[in-house]
Amino acid sequence: MSDEVELSPLLAAAEARLAALGVEEARLDLLYLAEAAFGIPTSRLRRPQGLRVPTDKLAHFDGLVERRAAREPVQRILGNWEFWGLELLLGPETLIPRPDTETLVETVLKHRPSRDRSWRILDLGTGTGAILLALLSEYGTAFGVGVDLSPDAAAVARGNAHRLGLGERAQFLAGDWATALGGGGFDIIVSNPPYIPDADIAGLQVEVARFEPWRALAGGPDGLGPYRLLLPDLARLAAPAALVAMEHGAEQGPAVAALFQAAGLDKVATICDLGGRDRVAVGEWPAPASEKNLLE
Ligand SMILES: C[S@@+](CC[C@H](N)C(=O)[O-])C[C@H]1O[C@@H](n2cnc3c(N)ncnc32)[C@H](O)[C@@H]1O
Repeated sequence: MSDEVELSPLLAAAEARLAALGVEEARLDLLYLAEAAFGIPTSRLRRPQGLRVPTDKLAHFDGLVERRAAREPVQRILGNWEFWGLELLLGPETLIPRPDTETLVETVLKHRPSRDRSWRILDLGTGTGAILLALLSEYGTAFGVGVDLSPDAAAVARGNAHRLGLGERAQFLAGDWATALGGGGFDIIVSNPPYIPDADIAGLQVEVARFEPWRALAGGPDGLGPYRLLLPDLARLAAPAALVAMEHGAEQGPAVAALFQAAGLDKVATICDLGGRDRVAVGEWPAPASEKNLLE
């Protein structure tokens, strides 16, 4: 049997080290790393007094802490993260799904409340598949297509869909926005495109600037390049009265809403995230008057 040591002093020392290096929320990150290394749930690790851990697992824990000290995000170290209550695996070319993006999912659910309609959903720039899979988990008979420029991301999303039991209702393609799609007819079109102005990326947190894929962040000189490319394609992709919802940066609300209007969308609105910042543009593709009453 392996020797054991007390966990509390180890956590305290690692926390002091990470905090001194500028890691925010070092304690919380360490709970996740300790859970991965020792197999003890974070709920128990929150009060570690009296907990003892086997010495033969210490090297693993130290290795994880070392990676965090080099500012690798805890989500990448673990290789998975939760979004909308779904566990998603990450790949080297997928963005870590963010809580802010749940605002986009909530916006869609609020505007299209019927859970049993067989919505056809398109997610452009799908990454891990986070948004599409969250929506498919809510709409039990919907079908969705997720597209990403990165074949690696599309493969990760496909794997996530299968693991979550949603693979039958999801298709993932590698492609440049919607150019790979032959047809349209989508009732719900969502995207969280890259929207950081290229020149701002180097100044972001190390965890983002160094460890997130450039193509998941970089939105061109003003961060709005992807919206200008995506929105003109709606006429080809959208079903009558399709809902269109896209995430954007906190400073980009008026600009993205203006691009939505210029693209011909009706009922354009800006939705705030939980922090009260502009986060999602939403609008509706025009429908012939005869189809409007079918939507709710
Ligand atoms: C901000 S990330 C969003 C990922 C995921 N939807 C999420 O919300 O977590 C943007 C995604 O767009 C993809 N992307 C960038 N340029 C693209 C393009 N031209 N065509 C398709 N996808 C693209 C990136 O690879 C990345 O996965």
